[in-house]
Amino acid sequence: MAPGPHGSGATAPALTVTGLGKRYGGVQAVDDISLTLAPGERMGVIGPNGAGKTTLFKMIAGDVPPTAGAIELFGRDVTRVDASRRARLGVGRTFQVSNLFREMTVLDNVRVAARGGSPQARVFWRTQGLRDDVTTRALEMLDSVDLVDRRDDTVADLSHGEQRQLEIAMALVTDPRILLLDEPAAGLSAVERTTLRELVEALPRTLPILLIEHDMSLALGLTDRVMCMENGHHVVTGTPAEVREHPTVKEIYLGRRDKK
Ligand SMILES: Nc1ncnc2c1ncn2[C@@H]1O[C@H](COP(=O)(O)OP(=O)(O)OP(=O)(O)O)[C@@H](O)[C@H]1O
Ligand SMILES: [Mg+2]
Repeated sequence: MAPGPHGSGATAPALTVTGLGKRYGGVQAVDDISLTLAPGERMGVIGPNGAGKTTLFKMIAGDVPPTAGAIELFGRDVTRVDASRRARLGVGRTFQVSNLFREMTVLDNVRVAARGGSPQARVFWRTQGLRDDVTTRALEMLDSVDLVDRRDDTVADLSHGEQRQLEIAMALVTDPRILLLDEPAAGLSAVERTTLRELVEALPRTLPILLIEHDMSLALGLTDRVMCMENGHHVVTGTPAEVREHPTVKEIYLGRRDKK
C-alpha cells in the first residue's frame, strides 16, 4: 500500500502506543501500556494467560476502544478510528481464535480476505464476478506460504499448521504496512512450528511485526525486541537476551515449567 495522505512518511514509527488502558467492569485487562514499533521492527509480546496481550492487539486493530491512552499508526492518531479504516490504513492481523471460512476452499478464503474479509464481500464478488487480479494476487500469497497446491481443498481438510499458514496469507493479501500475529504457533506440532517460524522469518524485513507468542523460542527467536506483560501491566521491554534474563520473566516462564 502506498503511504496514505495522512501518514507522516517513512521516518514515523509504525506504531506508537501511549498509556493504553482497557477496563472491563472490574477487570483492568490492560493498564498503562506504552510501546513504539520502528519501521521494519519485529517485537514479541509475551506474558502468562490473562496478561492482556490479546486485549492490547484488539485496541491496536480497533476492535475495542481503549478506556485510557492513545494509539498512533504511521504518525497518525487512530485512537478513535474504527477497525475497517485501520485495516485500510495497513493493519493486517491474524487471530488467536481462527476466523477461517471452514466450508470454503483455501483459495476462496484468500479471495474473501482480499476483498475485505466479510461475508458481504463474499456475496459482492459472487455477484460481480471475480476479477483476475484478485485471483492472481491470492495465488501469489498462497505460494508465499507454501499452500498453492492446496488451493482447491476446503479449509476443513487442512492440518492445523496449514490453517495457520493460510491465515497469514489472508493477512498478507491485504498488503499490510504492519502485521499483528496473535499466537500463530498455538497448538502446532514441533514440525509445524518450524514451518511457521521459517515462514515468519521469510516475510519482508520492511514489514513491522507485533507477535504474541507463548512459545519462548519463537517469541525471542523471531523478534528484535520483546515486551513482557502480566495482569495488564508492563513488566519489561528489551532485547530477547535482556528479557530472557529478567527475574520476573524467569519466574513466570521457568517457574511454571519447573512445576509441571
Ligand atoms: N470482553 C471481555 N470482557 C470482560 N473481560 C475480558 C474481556 N476480554 C478479556 N477480558 C479479561 O481481560 C484479561 C486479559 O485478557 P486477554 O485475552 O487480553 O489476555 P491474554 O494475555 O491474551 O491471555 P491468553 O494468553 O490466555 O490469550 C483477562 O482477565 C480476561 O478475562
Ligand atoms: Mg490472548
